[in-house]
Amino acid sequence: MDVKAFISEQIEFIRKTVGEAGALSALSGGVDSSTCTLLAWRAIGPRLKVVFIDDGLMREGEPQQVKSTFASLGIPVEIVEAQADFFKALAGLVDPEEKRKAFREAFYTTLGRLIRESGVKFLIQGTIAADIIETRGGIKTQHNILEQIGIDPELSFGFKVIEPLKTLFKHEVREVARELGLPEAILKRMPFPGPGLAARILGEVTPERAAIVRRATQIVEEEVSPFQPFQAFAVLLADKGTGVEKGQRKFGDIVIIRSVESRDAMTAEPSLLPWEVLMRITRRIIEEIPSVARVAYELTPKPPATIEFI
Ligand code: XMP
Repeated sequence: MDVKAFISEQIEFIRKTVGEAGALSALSGGVDSSTCTLLAWRAIGPRLKVVFIDDGLMREGEPQQVKSTFASLGIPVEIVEAQADFFKALAGLVDPEEKRKAFREAFYTTLGRLIRESGVKFLIQGTIAADIIETRGGIKTQHNILEQIGIDPELSFGFKVIEPLKTLFKHEVREVARELGLPEAILKRMPFPGPGLAARILGEVTPERAAIVRRATQIVEEEVSPFQPFQAFAVLLADKGTGVEKGQRKFGDIVIIRSVESRDAMTAEPSLLPWEVLMRITRRIIEEIPSVARVAYELTPKPPATIEFI
């Protein structure tokens, strides 16, 4: 891929398509949406409104980190507090695809409202090739593929979608991001799914359960950071297991540690993390998160498993 040519073609395309109308970018702080936002900002400058929807399912400190990173690039980001809407949409749901659909609906309802309020006519979205392939292949419903689920955003919400990265795979997006000068802090970020921590919570998604998986993920990320795996995180199971705490029986949460190596997320192998690191993560999760009784390490490659648990 000729990265420089790709960038100038996309900037030109966005500039011509959006014209004077203005566009909105929903930044998540991941490489895809960050790269997309940078491309669009280069194309139309402040006619791009950048929002970060805080759905309550982000990693620890993520909204503020993203805002300050983009502020250092001269791009203002508005944080939209939508936690209550997302938890309400997800309440009572346990089926993975139902959770994904509820998340997606909450996402587009919020976005639709933001677009109407700001009066722009375009949404810039960081969909990449793997999202489209996997959704078309029926593997799972990614939150950001509208065509597949029969939503026409122009009819339903009154805006058009521009997806500058839809022909690229993750490693190519990283090349574009590097060329655009995206800070290392974001470039090196592990991929994070659109539905956020909801993709890592089996059973009902509640603020309390999100807090458990958020804290466990923070511990995993801290401990694996010297090894730079493609993706590493914690998952909260719906079931519980017996443990012992201070001589008392405890029937507590089960957390799975997942760490994988991959190039494009289409296939993946479990990371060969040193045993001491896995033991340290386990000890910390048990000690630092009182509700957890057991921790396990996931060994299934993709395929047959997917990287995320829902
Ligand atoms: P799976 O679980 O399908 O994940 O093996 C492949 C890669 O995609 C990420 N992922 C998502 N990203 N919206 C996204 O933007 C989603 O709904 C979604 N589901 C999974 C996942 O983290 C992995 O990197």
